[in-house]
Order: sequence, then structure tokens, then C-alpha cells
Amino acid sequence: MTAIETLDDASPYLSGNNAPVRTEHTVVDLEVTGQVPKDLEGRLLRNGPNPIGDVDMESHHWFLGDGMVHGIRLADGKAHWYRNRYVGSESVQATLDRTFPGEVTASSGPNTNVIGHAGRTYALVEAGTKPVELTYELETVETNGFEHSLLNGYTAHPKYDPLTGDMHAIAYSYAELLDKVQYVVVGADGAVTKTIHFSAPGMPMIHDMGLTQKYAVILDLPVAVDLELAMAGSPFPVRWFNDYDARVGLLPRSVSSDEDADANIIWCSIDPCFAFHPLNSYDTDDGKVIVDICRYDKLFDADRNGPFRDSLPQLERWTIDPASHSVRRNVIDERFQEFPRVAGAVLNAPHRYGYTTSIDDSADEWKFGNTIKHDLTAGTSEVHDHGATREAGEPVFVSRPNSTGEDDGWLLTMVYDAATDKSDLVILDAANVVGEPEAIVHLPARVPNGFHGNWVRDSVTPPQ
Ligand SMILES: [Fe+2]
Repeated sequence: MTAIETLDDASPYLSGNNAPVRTEHTVVDLEVTGQVPKDLEGRLLRNGPNPIGDVDMESHHWFLGDGMVHGIRLADGKAHWYRNRYVGSESVQATLDRTFPGEVTASSGPNTNVIGHAGRTYALVEAGTKPVELTYELETVETNGFEHSLLNGYTAHPKYDPLTGDMHAIAYSYAELLDKVQYVVVGADGAVTKTIHFSAPGMPMIHDMGLTQKYAVILDLPVAVDLELAMAGSPFPVRWFNDYDARVGLLPRSVSSDEDADANIIWCSIDPCFAFHPLNSYDTDDGKVIVDICRYDKLFDADRNGPFRDSLPQLERWTIDPASHSVRRNVIDERFQEFPRVAGAVLNAPHRYGYTTSIDDSADEWKFGNTIKHDLTAGTSEVHDHGATREAGEPVFVSRPNSTGEDDGWLLTMVYDAATDKSDLVILDAANVVGEPEAIVHLPARVPNGFHGNWVRDSVTPPQ
């Protein structure tokens, strides 16, 4: 085992802006270039892996290690603070000699996403670990699966339904549930209202899902648990399987029992591939389901430690036909891109615009690039070029109050600058992404390339 900070030639998943940071900052009254929109009142939160202890350089997987949440509070046209905090875990407790108000029960903290729901802030990860509740200022409260109503682990990618206020999730937890996967609904009041089990005999890694008004869309694709790796104690015992029966499932949201789920799920065959993230999903008038999604040819085959060396993702439209049990694929954009997002108002409904982050593979090693806005009705796209030394993260759309159009709002994204080794929060006008940013909030340190986050309005999860 090797201390991360002693090696310059670390795994690509531990070097450059993938390397963890060591300092937890609290900085107030941040410097801003431009003007923070006065209507933005809340926090931009972002989670990512930030291993706290020693790691094995040969076998370290990018998706593993302690979580660190970064947050910027905006209000009154100002950037009030930046904070970054480890997500509470047994590892953080032991390494930093830290105590928390409640119990933390996972060896390492959720490191993949951070959300606000029903007045609380949660850090999330998939595969068996329960969410960790954070305070408004990102301190750990305890391991807390939705007011202690969650039976098992959760997912990093719940899907919010703006019509009901519910959150829907597909959650696997093979150590506990083996080949059963859960469909979990958390109500608008913050507690679990439904837990349904369905069978997934291939034990697939299901990172994300689609949600429509009728269905939960299940991605049963050829990256799955390898029992030999699991028995050997591998910390990340999943890999690509060439002979896997790749399929997409349409699980009616109305299912009321485990038997009901297995009897009514509609499985549709698809060419072998992998996808982490749908951009959005919706039902069509003729009974089909549209899923726009970033698709990989192959994943975790040659490179078992990260996602971008077997293939790189392209944006596709999948048309799922439950009548013929088939999926038709159409490439929307051949450029490599990830982190797809849409406006909250069109979640699970037809959308015109989608936003992604480009991946640049022109050098020896991949890196994140620019912010892409797709007009899926016109079949066009625009790019905000952040600059040659700058790498953008996930673009989070925030609608303007009383917005008049789907793109009437802002895109908020963390941008790392290799020239300064620091990061900014960049705020773009979503209706004019090629224009100058409305604001660039300068952070005192770099925010490592991590994964996902959200804009959490103070009206949803207010300051304590
Ligand atoms: Fe993800």
C-alpha cells in the first residue's frame, strides 16, 4: 500500500485533477468575475471520491474511496461561502479521529452524488451503502436512509418526479440481496413509501435508471458481479461479460408486490453495450419509451479501474418498443460526452434541450472538456469552450423563477484550470451558452474531477 501524495506517477485515476485533496476549506465572501444572478438562492453541491488513506496504486478503482462534498452558497447576487467536507464514514472517523452526532455505518462514505430532499441533504452511492445525512454546511450528521426508513442500500441516481415530489430508485446490494434488485420510492415527505424486489439473475451493476410517467427503466447490461472476484475479496468485483444477455426492462410504476414486478416487467433486448447515465426518458403517444443516453461500446474489460479506456461514450436515442421487446438505437452525437442533464421541468417528459460535458481524447490520456448544449428538436448543438487549460464538470441546469422556456435558466458547472491548479464555479446563461459566463466564482482550491451534484434551493432544504 502506498500513500497517495508520495507518487507523481500514480494511476490516472489518482493523478492530475483526479488526485484527492487534503484540506477541508471554509472560505466566505468569494471573489466573483461578473454577476451572480440574484435569483439563485441556495447551494451548488458536488460529490466525488477523495480517498483519505493509503491505496493500492495497481488496483485502485476510481469509483472507490471516501466521499468529499464540495458546496458553494449563492444568495443576494453574492457567493457567500465555499466548503468542502469528507462524508462521514468509519474510515474518516478513524483517520481524522472525528466524531459525528449520530452513527456512521459504512467503511467509506457515499462518494457519488449529493441531493436535497424534503428539507435534508444526503450524500449518495450505489451498491449497498445507505445515504449519509449532512447539515446545510456539509457536516456529517449520521448514516440515515431517509429518516431511517430505507431497508437496504440505495443508489447514487434517484429520479425525481416533479409531478408528485416522489423520488424513484433502482438499488442493488448483492452482498445482502444477491440476484434481487429493489425498486424504491421515497415520498415527498422524505420517507420510503414502496420497496419492491425483482429478479436480475445476471447480478448487473445498475448505476442509473430512466423514469417515465408509466415505467421505471432498468439497465441490465453486461457489466456484472464476478463471483470469483467477489469471493477473492476484490473491492470492486464487477467486469464486462461478453456472453451477457443485454436487455432493458420496463417496470410499471404501478407494481404493488414482488410477484407483480417479476410478472409484469417487460424485458427488451439490446445490443451489448453499457450506459451509466440517461439524459432523460419519456413515454410516447404510441406506447413506446424514449431514452436519450450516453452509451459505451464496452466497459471494465481491459481496464477494470475506471470507465474511459475500453471505449468512450456517445449520445444516443433509444426507442424501446414493449410490443416487440426491442430497442432501436440512433446516434445523436458521435462526439464523446458524459454527465447528461436536462431541466427539472421536463424530467420524465418530452424534452427539447439536453446538456453534457465533452471528453477530449486527443492527448495520451482522456480529460473532460467543454459544456455542450443539444437542441434535440432542431438536431443542432452549441459548445461553451471553457479554455484550453480548463475542464468542465457536470452541467447542472437551474430554471429561472417563472421561466418562460425550457432553457430559460442557468447552467452551473465546476471548472478546473490546470494552469492555476484551482477550480471555479462557472454560471452560464442556458439560453446563450456560447456567450460569456454570467459569473465565475473563484474557489480557493481545486475541486477534483468527481461525479455528480445538484442545485439545492434554500426553499427545498433551508439553512438550519
Ligand atoms: Fe453517475
